[in-house]
Formats: sequence, C-alpha cells, structure tokens
Amino acid sequence: MCGIVAYVGPKDAAPILLEGLQRLEYRGYDSAGVVVSNRGLKLRKVKGRVADLAKAVPAKFKGTLGIGHTRWATHGVPSDENAHPHLSTDERIAVVHNGIIENADELRAKLVAEGVEFVSETDTEVLAHLIARTVAETETLEEAVRKALKSIVGTYGIAVVDSERPKEIVVARNGSPIVLGLGEKEMFAASDVSALVRYTRQVVHLEDGELAVLTADGFHTFASGGRETAKEPLTVDWDAGHYDTGGYEHYLLKEISEQPESIARTLRGRLDERFHIAHLGGLNMDARETRSFRRVKIIGCGSAYYSGQIGAQLIEELARIPADAEPASEYRYRNPVIDPDTLYVAISQSGETYDTLAAVQEIKRKGGRVIGIVNAVGSAIAREVDGGIYLHAGPEVSVASTKAFTSTAIAFALLALHFGRVHDLSPSDGRRIVEGLRKLPDQIEQILKQGERIAELAKKYADHPSMMFVGRVRGYPVAREGAQKLKEISYVHAEAYPASELKHGPLALIGPDMPTVAIVPDDELLDKNLTTLGEIRARGGRVLMVGHRQPDAKLADDVIVIPKNEIELDPILLTIPLQLLAYHAAVALERDVDKPRNLAKSVTVE
Ligand code: F6R
Repeated sequence: MCGIVAYVGPKDAAPILLEGLQRLEYRGYDSAGVVVSNRGLKLRKVKGRVADLAKAVPAKFKGTLGIGHTRWATHGVPSDENAHPHLSTDERIAVVHNGIIENADELRAKLVAEGVEFVSETDTEVLAHLIARTVAETETLEEAVRKALKSIVGTYGIAVVDSERPKEIVVARNGSPIVLGLGEKEMFAASDVSALVRYTRQVVHLEDGELAVLTADGFHTFASGGRETAKEPLTVDWDAGHYDTGGYEHYLLKEISEQPESIARTLRGRLDERFHIAHLGGLNMDARETRSFRRVKIIGCGSAYYSGQIGAQLIEELARIPADAEPASEYRYRNPVIDPDTLYVAISQSGETYDTLAAVQEIKRKGGRVIGIVNAVGSAIAREVDGGIYLHAGPEVSVASTKAFTSTAIAFALLALHFGRVHDLSPSDGRRIVEGLRKLPDQIEQILKQGERIAELAKKYADHPSMMFVGRVRGYPVAREGAQKLKEISYVHAEAYPASELKHGPLALIGPDMPTVAIVPDDELLDKNLTTLGEIRARGGRVLMVGHRQPDAKLADDVIVIPKNEIELDPILLTIPLQLLAYHAAVALERDVDKPRNLAKSVTVE
C-alpha cells in the first residue's frame, strides 16, 4: 500500500527520501516520486520501482526539504502522471497522499468548472489544487491545508510542501498513518516507522484529525479545530537491522526461521512458575474485573482472524469462557450488539488495518471494553484500545504474516491461562500449559530443521491447480491459515474446510488432481481424522498429512511429523510446516515471495 516519507533539515533531502522509500517497498507499490524544494519545487516521478526513480533523479536534484511517495493505484492506472507527488497548476504546492478521497469526482468537477486543468486521474491531485486556492488567502500553510481538508470526505495521510515556505512541511492524518521522526536539528515523517529507524528511534504518532508542522527545529501538532496538542515522543525498539534479510533469500524465510526467538520474546517475563499464571500488566485489569467478563469476542482480518480462531478455542478450553472470532471487516458493518459483560479483543500485526480499527471504534462508541493484541508499538489500534498485549515479535516485513501469527496464538495462550487461573483452571493444568509454552521455541527449531524435506514436498505438490486443507476443531484454523498462506504467495488455489464437513459437499472435488493437506494431531479426534483420510484416499485423493505420528501407509502419501506438546498448544506447532510448504511452493513457482501480486502489507483503506 502507498508510502510517504518527508524530510526537513540541514542535509540533502533526495538521498534520505529515496532510502526511506526503499524501506517502504515491502508494503507493495507500482510507482514512486519525490519533490525537493530549492527556489521552486523540483519533481521526479516514475511508474516502476524506487530504483528506477533513483536513476531518474539527476545529480543536481538538491534541496534540504522534500517529500516522497510510493503509490499503490486506486484512482487511475499505474503511470508516471498518476504517481505522487502531485503539483498545483502554478507548481507552488506539492502533495503526497495515502488513503482515498471519496468525494474526489465531485470536487474535481467543481474545480474543472472553475478552469483548473488536471494532469492526472488521481483523487490526490484535487487536494493539491484545493490547497493552492486557499494558500493565497491564509497566513500559514497549516491553515491552508486545514481549510482544504474540510472539503474532503474520506481517509488520508498527507505531506504538503509550499515553494514559498521552503522551511516547513505540513503533514496530516485521518485514517491513514503518519509518524513523525525526531532528529538533531532535523525532522522526518513517514507512513511507517520502517522508513525512519535508520535516522532516529524517537517517534510521535499522529492521531486521526491531527495535523503537524515540521521544521528543522522541531514540530508542532494541532487538533482538527486548530488547538495545539502536546505529544510525548516514543522510543522505537526496532532498528534498521530488523529490516534486512539477514542473509536469507527472502524476508519470509527469515521471518519463518525467526519464530523460536519471536515466540520467546512474546513469552519473556510473562510466565509465573509459582502460581502457574501469566503476567499481563498491559491489560490494566484487576482479578475482580478479569472474572467479570462472561464472553470473549475476537476480531481481526485475514490471518489475524484465523489466529483469533485459535485464540477463541484456547480461551474456551482453558478458561471455559464462551469465545468466538469474527472478521473485523464484516463485524463493523453489521451493527453489532455490544454487551457490557463481553471482553472484545482486536488483533493486528500492523496496528493500522483500517477495518479492524473501525471495528474497535464502533465497539468503543457503543461502550464496549476492547483490548488489543498488536505487534507495532504505538500504532493506531494500540492507541485506541483500553489495554492489551504487545507481541514483541519484531517487525514483519514480508507481506504474508508468519511470526506475528504464531506470536498472536501465544498471546492468546497467555490470556487464556490468565483468565483460566482466575476461574477454574487448576494449578496442575496451569503448570502443564506454562511448561508447554516454554518448550515451544526448541520444538519450532526442530520443525525448521525439516525445511529441506518440506521444500521437496512443496515441489511435488505445487504443480496442482488446487489444494484442499482440512482440520478438525483445533486443526481447522490451522488449515485455514495453511490455505491462506499457500494461495496468497504461490497463487495456487487452496480451500480450507473443517474435516468433518468434507462429506457434506467438498468431497465431490476430491480426486487425483486435488491433493489434501490434512492436519491430524494426536488428540481426542485422531481416529475421526484418520477416517477422513481413508475417505479421501478411497476417492483417489493424495494426502499430505501434518501430525504427530506416521499413520498406516494406506492413509497418507506423505507425512510431516512434528514434536508433541500439550494438545491445546498443538495449533502453534502445526502451523510451522504449512508456512514452509507455502514458502517453498512459491519459490518453486518463481513467485515474488515477499510482495505477492495485488496485496499490501498493511491495509489502511476500506
Ligand atoms: C496474510 C496477511 C493478512 C493480514 C491482515 C491483517 O498473510 O498478512 O491477511 O493478516 O491483512 O493485518 P494486520 O494483522 O496488520 O491487521
């Protein structure tokens, strides 16, 4: 999805902007551009990669203030003209924009009627012309931007420069993130901290409706009405090294391989051996309050939602509190009934997913209590919720979520333990779970050692046009996540079904061309799962089984055996081989593993 970078200070802006844009490449984009200010605005923008833009920027592209952008097309095709920044006709104002201006057509028609000539098909160009019209009448650029934004319906994160005020940049946020970076006599801004960490770890997140004026000496932030707001900088504990591939061929493989450490970080300092409980100070809830909830409702999108399904089962099993998960993207639109006795849990790796944020706001507006399970510290969802659990998984760069998925499942195991031990979970069951959690990093290491064999299996199965993933109860969200990973990065069509549902319809699809990945843990449903394998094999279907033991050779063509832990924690370990399978299938099919087509890392639009 689109990315923004801005710089003002003593240094040459262009190299800083280009480096920042490169850091944002992982979000997905189709064109890029920069403007620097130096006795007028100098603009370069191209359809293509940041490397193409860097080639198009001449040596004499000097200026100590500038803004840059990577665009992911929404209004208008990817092209040089539609790339940002967009200029006003007199070339005084330049704007970069993330988000969608919903009333752009109407505003464009009005401006055209007044004689404005548009050079692009984008919604953003409207904003450049609107600001240019107000800037002549206002004393400050900030005022001109605020006035122009009043006529906008939609979402935005923007950065604006004015050639007549070459020492300041105005940025604003509504639904699309903007983070300020504080340097020594220099200021940065970006849509994502990844573009800032090479230069500074001191950041300030803008709230929706906020606007900021940046100069080399610092920044001022303002609420939408114009009142100045006070902001405390946060220190980001991720550094530039976290954003390198670390010698791996792809970020995705690096992030899959990092899971022993990322899980250990999610657990660090949170397990108590004395009472066999979890310490979750960020929930801001005492024991009495923890006991008061009668239900748990979990929301998230995509893989976050599937990890929420694992979470709901953990809460029901360990705490015996009814729990369920629902896609946040659906939940927000169905006028949900908000219950005071329900605890709402929002999950997000990026903390910026618009659908999840909007669902949180809807629940809060109706008086519900929401906690977050979030990876990105200080992100919009983290700021919006009443408390929560940070994953501390480290930045996830590859578009497909892997380590955040498993860390979220761990966070739910901790939450379930926490709730369980104030309800009826016995100390011995608490101990069992604490010990099981402690074993996970080593067990994941053992699964990762099977990488080469899983790569061979991926090659064997990847040339099928379609694959079925099945699992029962704890195995079902694992199957859904396995199918999701495979389809999004390898583009192999994959369906996920509860194994119990197979004979109610999808069994009709099974045959030699449709192999099945079956999630078969050694739990109380083992026999039922083995029966399902028999049904698949009887229809000529090939089976790749992931589980704890080698079944009868008649039941599976291939088996990936994983170590045994507590049955409640099985989904975490069962997920790892499926991540590797999807990764190696994508490599075998020569896909753009880290940046799958049509997808973006954080979906900050509706
Ligand atoms: C799948 C994937 C997406 C995200 C979803 C939510 O691999 O990455 O399905 O899980 O877009 O993103 P976050 O967790 O950032 O809210």
